[in-house]
Amino acid sequence: MIPKDIRMPDIDLSRLSLERKAALLSGQDFWSTLPVADAGIPSVVLTDGPHGVRRQVGDFDHMGIYESLASTCFPPAVAVGSSWDPEVAARIGAAVGREARALGVHVVLGPGVNIKRSPLCGRNFEYYSEDPLLSGRLGAAHVRGQQGEGVGASLKHFAANNQETDRMRVSADVDERTLREIYLPAFEHVVTEARPATVMAAYNKVNGVHAAQHRWLLTEVLREEWGFAGAVVSDWGAVHDPVASMLAGLDLEMPGPAPENTRRIVAAVRDGELEESVVDTAVRRILALADGAAGQSGGFDADAHHRLARELAAECAVLLKNDDDVLPLAPGRRIAVIGEFAAAPRYQAGGSSHLNPTRLDNALDAMRELATERDNPVAYAPGFTSDGSGDTVALREAAVALARASDVTVVFAGLAEGEESEGFDRDTLHLPAVQVELIRAVAAAAGRTVVVLSNGGVVSLEGWHDEVDAILEGFLLGQGGGGALADLLFGDANPSGRLAETIPVRLEDNPSFVNFPGEQGHVRYGEGVMVGYRWYGTTGAPVRYPFGHGLSYTTFAVGGLTVESTGDDSARASLTVTNTGTRAGSHVVQIYVGTQAGPVRRPARELRAFAKVRLEPGESRTLSFDLGRRAFAYYDVQDAVWAVAPGDYLVQVGENAEHVSAEASVTLTGDAAPQELTLESTFGEWIAHPVIGSVLLQELTAALPADQGSRLGSRPELLQAVRDVPMKRVVGLVEGDALDATLERLMERSRVAGRR
Ligand code: BGC
Repeated sequence: MIPKDIRMPDIDLSRLSLERKAALLSGQDFWSTLPVADAGIPSVVLTDGPHGVRRQVGDFDHMGIYESLASTCFPPAVAVGSSWDPEVAARIGAAVGREARALGVHVVLGPGVNIKRSPLCGRNFEYYSEDPLLSGRLGAAHVRGQQGEGVGASLKHFAANNQETDRMRVSADVDERTLREIYLPAFEHVVTEARPATVMAAYNKVNGVHAAQHRWLLTEVLREEWGFAGAVVSDWGAVHDPVASMLAGLDLEMPGPAPENTRRIVAAVRDGELEESVVDTAVRRILALADGAAGQSGGFDADAHHRLARELAAECAVLLKNDDDVLPLAPGRRIAVIGEFAAAPRYQAGGSSHLNPTRLDNALDAMRELATERDNPVAYAPGFTSDGSGDTVALREAAVALARASDVTVVFAGLAEGEESEGFDRDTLHLPAVQVELIRAVAAAAGRTVVVLSNGGVVSLEGWHDEVDAILEGFLLGQGGGGALADLLFGDANPSGRLAETIPVRLEDNPSFVNFPGEQGHVRYGEGVMVGYRWYGTTGAPVRYPFGHGLSYTTFAVGGLTVESTGDDSARASLTVTNTGTRAGSHVVQIYVGTQAGPVRRPARELRAFAKVRLEPGESRTLSFDLGRRAFAYYDVQDAVWAVAPGDYLVQVGENAEHVSAEASVTLTGDAAPQELTLESTFGEWIAHPVIGSVLLQELTAALPADQGSRLGSRPELLQAVRDVPMKRVVGLVEGDALDATLERLMERSRVAGRR
C-alpha cells in the first residue's frame, strides 16, 4: 500500500551503477542526502526539530553544541502534551513547516512519540506523554500540520527508546503485548493517520536487536502491518551493520558520507548476500523525498510566529493548585517576583533540539508590562542563582524581605539547563535544595505564595507543596513562555493544560523504578503494560497529582453520560459539558475504559478518547465519542491478534485518571469465539464459559442423585477447590456415570457456540 501522497519517482535506476546507488544510501554530509544531478534530483536537507528548525550552516553537530540560524522556539513536546490539544500541535507543525521552507529544509526531524516510562528520562521534555493515545493524537496533528506545508516529518525514535542511559547500546527487553499496547500505538496512529515522510530508527536495541536492523519492527510491523510507504532513516550514528540494516528495511543511513558502509553494501550485493532490488527500493524511497519536498520560500514572519508561540504556550501550562483563588493576581496588590528563572527563563532543553530563538520573552518584563495597566507594583529579587554563584544566604534573605513587604509573592523555580538534557537521565526528581529552602523561607514570610515551575522532566513537589498557595507548572514553554506565564498569572489567559504524566509522591512508587535504567546492557520492562497512571490506578498507590489533572479559573460540570454499544466491539459515549463559572475557559473531557473481561490482566482504566472544548460562561456543549474496537481490545499474544473479550466494560468520564466524575457500563459481545469445552478443560474454564457457565451448576445438580446435588449447591468452597482441576477428574469424584450424558450435551453446545 503506497499512500497517495508519497510518490515513487519515475527514474530508470539501471542508468546508475551499483556503486552510485549504494552511495545514495547514506547522507552526502551531516544534514543532507546525495543529489542525482543528471536525473534532476536535488539533495534533501533534513534537520532537527521538532519544536522549531535547527538549521546549521557553519559547524555541524547533533548535540546542540554549535549555533544554528535563528528560528522560532515553539513549546517543546512536554508542553504540547500538557495542552491535550491536537490543534496546538498542528499549528506548531504548520509554523515549523513554514520556517523550514524559508530556511531551505525539506524534512524536519520529529515529532518524538516515545512513551515517558520513567520520569527520570533525560529526554522526556521531547516526548508528549506516558499515554500512547495522547502521544499518538498529538504526534499525528504535528505531522499533518508540518506536511501540509510541504515539509516532511521524521517520526522518532522507533522504537522503545525510553531512556538516555547507555542509549546507543542498551537492549529494551519488552514483551510483545506491552510493545503492542503501550510503546507502538502512538507510532501506529501517526503512521496510519498522518503518513509521515520518514520514520527514524532508534539507537537502542529492542529485545537484543538494534532497532536500526530490526526486521520485525522496520518491515513486518511498520510496512506490512501499518502500510508505511516512506523512507526509514537511521538516528544519527545508529547503523552498526549496514547490510543487516538494509535487509531489515532501513533506507537511509545518517549522517553521511559513510564510504566504508557503501563499500560493504556493494560487496554484499556482489556476494549474493543482498539482492540489488533491496538497494533499488531503498534508493527509490530516498529519491521520493526529494520529489515530494516543497521548494524554498522567501521568509517567515518572525513577529507573527513569536505571537503564536506565546498564544500556544498559554494553552500548555498546568495549574496544579490554587487555594482560595490566589490566582489570577488581583489588581492593586503588591507583587514580589522571586527567582532567577523569571528574568532568565528556562524554555527549552539541551541536545539535538536546542534552537537559537528569534526572540525571547521573560516573565518578569512581561509581568511588569501587564502590571502597569492594573496598578500592581512589581519588585524583583533573584533569590538564587542556577549556577550556584553568589552568596546563597544573602540572596535568600533579600528575597524573604521582599516577600514580607509584598501582598503576594511569585517564586520562579525549576531545573537549570545543566540538570536535564538529551544524552543522560536524571537521578532524582527533587528541585535543587537551594530552591526548596528558598520556597519554604519565602512561603513562611509572604502573605500568599505562588510557585511557577520550569522543568522538562517532572519534579517532586514534596517538602514544600503544602506551604504554598498555588503552583503553576509551565514545564518548558518555548520562546513565548515568559509572556504566556504573565498572561496566565494575571488572568488574560485561563489555564487549560492537564498533566500528560503523573507527578508521583516518591520516585520509588513509579512502576519502572526497580528496572530503570537497567543493568549490564539490558533494561527489563518488568512493569509490562502498567505504565504511569495505569499502574497507580491499578495498585491504588497515592500520587501527588494524577495524569490528566489541571485546574482552571472557571469551573465545569459534566452530565448526562450515556453509553450504548454500536456493534459487537464498539460503543458510543455521549455527555454534556457546561462552563458553570464566570470566565471563558477550556475543559478537557477525558474518557477512560476499564474491564475485568478476558484472560489478561488489564489496567484499572485506560484513556480511550478525549476532547478539549472551549466554553463561554454558562455555555453547554453535547459531545459524542465513538469508541472503536481498539478502545476495548487487548493484544492476544497466543493468537497474535487484537481481541475484544466478551463482557462488561466500564466507560468512565475522568476529571483525571484518579477522579471519576461519571460512569456507565456497556456489555459487548466481543469477538473471541468461546472456547470449545472438553473433559480436559478445567472446572474453572467450564464455569467461565460464556454460554455454558451460567447453566453448569443447575445442569449438574439436576443430573446427580438428590442428596449429592444438594451438597454441591451448599458447599461453594468445594467448587473453589476444584477450579483448576480438569473436568474428567471432577467427574471421577462422582460415582457411576450420572453426569456423562449431561456433559456430552454441554460439550456439544460449546462446540456449536465456538463455530459461531
Ligand atoms: C537524536 C535525534 C536527532 C539526531 C540529529 C540524535 O542524537 O537522537 O533525535 O534527530 O541526533 O540531530
